[in-house]
Amino acid sequence: MNALMDAKTNREMFSKIVPKYDLLNSILSLGLDRYWRNRTATLLEPAKGKCYLDLGCGTGAMSLELISKCESARVIGLDPVYSMLRAAKKNFEKRRFGKTVKFVVGDAMKMPFRKEVFDGMISGFCIRNISDQSAVFEETYRVVKTGGNITVLELTRPRNFVIRIFHRIYNRTVLPIIGGLFSNGSAYKYLAKSIEKFPEQKAIIEMISRAGWKVVEAIKVTAGIVSIFIARK
Ligand SMILES: C[S@@+](CC[C@H](N)C(=O)[O-])C[C@H]1O[C@@H](n2cnc3c(N)ncnc32)[C@H](O)[C@@H]1O
Repeated sequence: MNALMDAKTNREMFSKIVPKYDLLNSILSLGLDRYWRNRTATLLEPAKGKCYLDLGCGTGAMSLELISKCESARVIGLDPVYSMLRAAKKNFEKRRFGKTVKFVVGDAMKMPFRKEVFDGMISGFCIRNISDQSAVFEETYRVVKTGGNITVLELTRPRNFVIRIFHRIYNRTVLPIIGGLFSNGSAYKYLAKSIEKFPEQKAIIEMISRAGWKVVEAIKVTAGIVSIFIARK
């Protein structure tokens, strides 16, 4: 269980950072966030006419990456924070992809969908924020069709000891300072803590497998600052 804060406080925190969320992602990741989502969307192998779930879609950046790879795919973005979804809708309207995507308010631990309705699931930087991560993989297993894939992108910790120290210093100092200048400092302090608390890759793989998935691969990207988990039902 990830108990850094309860679900309500977590939702309130995310709703405060919506206006500068995309900008800060680019600044704090030095533009790498786009590359990481792009790689995650490629690994899902989206196909024409198929329907995908973007779990914890936030402002829709991952959904956009998915649709830009396969314009005729359909995407349902799920997030409990209404203001995030409003921003996502705007982002899609700007790019005229509005018809293939829908945004739904809801919780990844108890989704408002029938079983086996999606051809796959993608998620970016979401599961770290959820109190019961096992429940997310179990729920996802329920709503994805047999044969469907999931690709999950998350912020992790580098394996190399030296890089790990610099990574920790960056997270504990730069994130809250820049976050505080542009947005909400405590949200970015939480970000650093949530990265430190996130289970090691092996534990996540076990969690995914326990939910019934066949884990295909877990890739460390950019020295392990992020990981991408790929699994099939
Ligand atoms: C760091 S943002 C990531 C947004 C987006 N996926 C991206 O790639 O930028 C995390 C998102 O997870 C959402 N979230 C938090 N708890 C959630 C839950 N229980 N179910 C679904 N989404 C959740 C937050 O509201 C937030 O929009």
